[in-house]
Amino acid sequence: LKKEAAKAAKAAKKAEAKGGTPAGPAISTEPPSGTRDFFPAEMRTRNWLFAKFRETARQLAFVEYDAPVLEAEQLYVRKGGEEITQQMYNFTDKDGKAVSLRPEMTPTLARMILSLGGKVLLPVKWFSIPQCWRFETVQRGRKREHFQWNMDIVGEASIAAEAELLAGVTSFFKSVGVTSADVGIKVNSRKVLAAILKMYGIDDDKFEAVCVIVDKLDKIGPDETVQLLRDAQVSDEAARKIVASLSLRSIGELQELVGEHPVAADAMREMKELFALAEAYGFGDWILFDASVVRGLAYYTGIVFEGFDRKGELRAICGGGRYDKLLSLYGSPTVVPACGFGFGDCVIMELLQEKGLLPHLEPEVDFVVCPFNAEMRLHAVQVAATLRAAGYAVDVLLANKRADKAFSYADRVSGRRMVFVAPDEWDKGSVRVKDLRLERSEEEKLADRGIELPVAELV
Ligand code: HAM
Repeated sequence: LKKEAAKAAKAAKKAEAKGGTPAGPAISTEPPSGTRDFFPAEMRTRNWLFAKFRETARQLAFVEYDAPVLEAEQLYVRKGGEEITQQMYNFTDKDGKAVSLRPEMTPTLARMILSLGGKVLLPVKWFSIPQCWRFETVQRGRKREHFQWNMDIVGEASIAAEAELLAGVTSFFKSVGVTSADVGIKVNSRKVLAAILKMYGIDDDKFEAVCVIVDKLDKIGPDETVQLLRDAQVSDEAARKIVASLSLRSIGELQELVGEHPVAADAMREMKELFALAEAYGFGDWILFDASVVRGLAYYTGIVFEGFDRKGELRAICGGGRYDKLLSLYGSPTVVPACGFGFGDCVIMELLQEKGLLPHLEPEVDFVVCPFNAEMRLHAVQVAATLRAAGYAVDVLLANKRADKAFSYADRVSGRRMVFVAPDEWDKGSVRVKDLRLERSEEEKLADRGIELPVAELV
């Protein structure tokens, strides 16, 4: 605060020295902690990234949807003690309704599908790129707002759906130049945990809480995880078996641990099928089995997965899984199987930056129209209007400038060509057009008078 006040005082002094009088104390120019401004250069990169998300979705025949960023808070009320429900940007609105900025998109998607009341033929493949809000501890790769590419398949119970989602994730990576040497996807099934709970006669309703606890293993270590499981009324033996199961990295070892329990058998069959499908799709080298991946959200019921950088420096790149009971939780009279993933914009941008895979993007301005003097402005805007009507991106100099100043302006806005509208040429029905993208010195640029073109031939 002291720093801010000093900054404000300095700014006020500076303005005073310039003869200005601030009408109020200087505001902080920072956006709220953990949120981002997108200046034009960053916006170009963001649009580029979103275009890649959209293109991948299109290639996999997913269709786009959207919804308000504000939802009823009730949508996120779940038992299980998930972090996400404690990180909400929630408040009571002026109608007295408890609302929240969405921390994630999946509940909204479930609500939308439910609102169709069975009038939609399932399965559907939908995608979205919502901004999500979570009151997180701000750190590398984790902010308080992020954009999250979501792809979900609703109404398909078979593992074919998960395979299609993973095909989406891996196609996206390939489209931006990321390889399976950079990134992998860890896959597991929560059905394994469910089987262990069943083997020990533990109630089904403990399942969600158990998943949320074991998701913390990485952070808190095995002893504390066992303790938390005991606190949740899981027997010591079951707790130890659960924690032991998390260290397995091969399906064979897992088979030994869970034996022939029917729920486990189902999980094993699905997992094997998924790996076979991955080979057929051509992304087998991207995925690996890892029993420690359970994901932190309570609603997952089956396969769960997580994209990670193989160097191990970054937070999870994306995450998802199957959530067959979420729609029932919201009152669906029938079970609606569903699965999907969320893919944030923060970690991937860090990875792309680090690997030099971000393109250098400039604004696209085809023409900069420059009137020779004030009298020529009426003609200049006519020329600009004609070019714009033909679909070109056209900038017009808004103030009259000398030629050298006009060139620096055109450079600054990345103009490709300059159109001079001057009396001599105009009298002949022409304008002067100069190519600004030729490699030349400043003097050569100024000396080049360009070519004279009849206005009628411009478009
Ligand atoms: P999630 O694992 O909470 O899942 O988040 C998915 C992804 O969103 C993360 O892997 C990360 O890329 C990004 N993400 C999450 N929180 C932040 C944050 N604070 N800052 C930056 N990026 C973040 C879900 O949200 C599920 N709804 C995904 C899903 C869709 N499951 C099924 N369908």
